[in-house]
Amino acid sequence: MAGSTGQAGEQGWSSRSAFVLAAIGAAVGLGNIWRFPTLAGENGGGAFVIVYIACVFLIGLPLVLSEVMIGRSGRSDAAGSIAAVAEKSGVSRKWSLFGGMEILAAFLILSFYSVVAGWTIHYVFVMLGDIVSSFQAGAPFGTAFQGETQDMITGRMGELFGNPLELILMHTAFMAITVFIVANGVHDGIEKAAGTLMPAFFVLLVLITIYGAFTGAFAEAVSFLFTPDFSLLTPTAMNEALGQALFSLSLGSAALITYGSYVGNDVKLAPTATMIAFADTGVAILAGLMIFPIVFAVGLDPAAGPVLVFQSLPVAFAQMPGGSWVGMLFFVLIFFAALTSSISLLEGPVAWVIDRFKLKRLHAALLVGGLAWCVGLLCALGYNVLSDVRPLWFWGIFADSDILDSIDGITGKVMLPLAALGVSLFIGWRADRRLVEAETGLSAGTLMLYRLIMAWIAPLAVLLIVVFGLFPGLL
Ligand code: PHE
Repeated sequence: MAGSTGQAGEQGWSSRSAFVLAAIGAAVGLGNIWRFPTLAGENGGGAFVIVYIACVFLIGLPLVLSEVMIGRSGRSDAAGSIAAVAEKSGVSRKWSLFGGMEILAAFLILSFYSVVAGWTIHYVFVMLGDIVSSFQAGAPFGTAFQGETQDMITGRMGELFGNPLELILMHTAFMAITVFIVANGVHDGIEKAAGTLMPAFFVLLVLITIYGAFTGAFAEAVSFLFTPDFSLLTPTAMNEALGQALFSLSLGSAALITYGSYVGNDVKLAPTATMIAFADTGVAILAGLMIFPIVFAVGLDPAAGPVLVFQSLPVAFAQMPGGSWVGMLFFVLIFFAALTSSISLLEGPVAWVIDRFKLKRLHAALLVGGLAWCVGLLCALGYNVLSDVRPLWFWGIFADSDILDSIDGITGKVMLPLAALGVSLFIGWRADRRLVEAETGLSAGTLMLYRLIMAWIAPLAVLLIVVFGLFPGLL
């Protein structure tokens, strides 16, 4: 048993691999399969991918190590852990404010995450219905959406958005499943869910990628993703890449600190952090290699934006043999990935509520999940009843964003980078050096590089990227 003194952790992870699987489950999510291909598509492919990978390994990986370390050393929720490490280091506990911001960010992300994950449930049902009707038509392995024109298929997304009841129903279902798992605890809930869903996820991912490689425009997809056009690298695109790297690694949003607080003292953190970063990036790239061959094979627009996965791919499923089956598996895959991430999004705030207000886990999960559900409700209504609402109308780059996009934008482009900045400054300048050395277990040379990154490179890069990303006029 891994030892944990934090109240929320009960007895911690049952093994190192349980932790690794849960952390990879947290990292791999809608960010990899929905957001990454969307952003790569919108920002011209290769150039974006290069900046993204640089952000992951130069800034993200050392931060993953730092957050897990803070959790394990502090043995509490995100705010409590930073406070504990600050105390051990003899510096102000005020650094825990960054932990508080991480908890808030997790809460906000969870609210819209659940709405988007709800779309995947909706599409699983759509594809299931399609399978049933193709059975009835006597062609169970035919294409999807038989008899529908392209406009009808892409129109389905608009229909879904115009149907608040359906959106809310699916959002509710997804949030309820998340709350249920988190309420069951670290051992019987989070660990078990990750242990079942992640292996299934990987099998599906490989299967669909192979399918796409054989039937789709694989070469075109590879050249799109890996041939950089640097003229497309605007400051905004770089800000997107950084925000996406942080989001995808689950940084700046309490998840890794909280999961870290359940890790045993015998686990070596540096190799574990490296595994998480590689797995997450590998899945993002594989997801690109799964999606773009299909997109190009059917001649769809790679820069279609957030609707790429939900609106464009169904068009492709309508043209490929066995399309409704591939489609169903595809949406089940996204659903699994989303669920292990939403669990980690909920766990951060829940651990804080348990530690801070001494609530029972079930009550904390219901409370946080319920509140996030309410914010998610606004996001869902933002597509129909409240479609005129622009919550950040006063802020240039967010002025045109609906409710969901505003929360997505403010968390990804502002809050996560700010938290990343806080954590790197804290570890780089204020945390006790011996504590950092002992906890990371890095050898002298790597430790020096790590310190250099945390003290200088990460803060400066984050600051530059965010300032110029948010205020492109300054350049
Ligand atoms: N990393 C998850 C994804 O890529 C989202 C997430 C963000 C999960 C922050 C936990 C914390 O979908």
